[in-house]
Amino acid sequence: MLGAVRTMHHLLDNFMTFSRFPLPRMTELDMVAVLGKSLETLREMAGEHGILMESRIEAEQAYLLGDQALLGQLLLNLGLNAIESMPVGGTFSLNLRTLPPDRAHGALVEIRVQDCGEGIAPENLRKIFDPFFSTKGRTRGLGLAISHAIAEAHHGLIEVESEPGRGATFRVLLPAESGTVQEISRK
Ligand SMILES: Nc1ncnc2c1ncn2[C@@H]1O[C@H](COP(=O)(O)OP(=O)(O)O)[C@@H](O)[C@H]1O
Ligand SMILES: [Mg+2]
Repeated sequence: MLGAVRTMHHLLDNFMTFSRFPLPRMTELDMVAVLGKSLETLREMAGEHGILMESRIEAEQAYLLGDQALLGQLLLNLGLNAIESMPVGGTFSLNLRTLPPDRAHGALVEIRVQDCGEGIAPENLRKIFDPFFSTKGRTRGLGLAISHAIAEAHHGLIEVESEPGRGATFRVLLPAESGTVQEISRK
């Protein structure tokens, strides 16, 4: 029940964000700390569904210019989708690392959410970021649309790889410093 209530709040958050996307409040943030906070909530939610969450954080700190509340929501959205994709339980992982600058882009923070759930049908891969696209039988489908908008507001991106029956991997790339913006969105 607690879980359900929390999920309701979470969905309401997405709806509020969607109907009136707030101007992001950018401050200097350590993404390792932001992730740390989301991990607590997600581990609890996973536990309530008999799911194990693993997390590997391969950076001591990962500074970027970002909106803490929006980035937290992005992490929750991806984590919640991972949990919901594993009705028979299992393990999903939420990892963070930093990527050094190279010729194509500046320094990046990479967050990867990998589950071993139901996966995504190839014909749906193009649709999952559309508002109100959902395969969950209820009127929802805002989580990824919002998450995509949040990544864009941070001049980053989200990618997905999935095969039906083999789970899904969502990868979020965010510029670690301002000034790396164009390079990333053009990649
Ligand atoms: N980790 C995942 N595994 C399998 N399918 C996923 C995953 N994440 C998202 N999807 C698919 O994308 C759709 C849209 O996701 P989302 O925007 O979060 O809406 P919702 O979760 O409310 O359905 C989901 O209904 C599901 O079909
Ligand atoms: Mg969702």
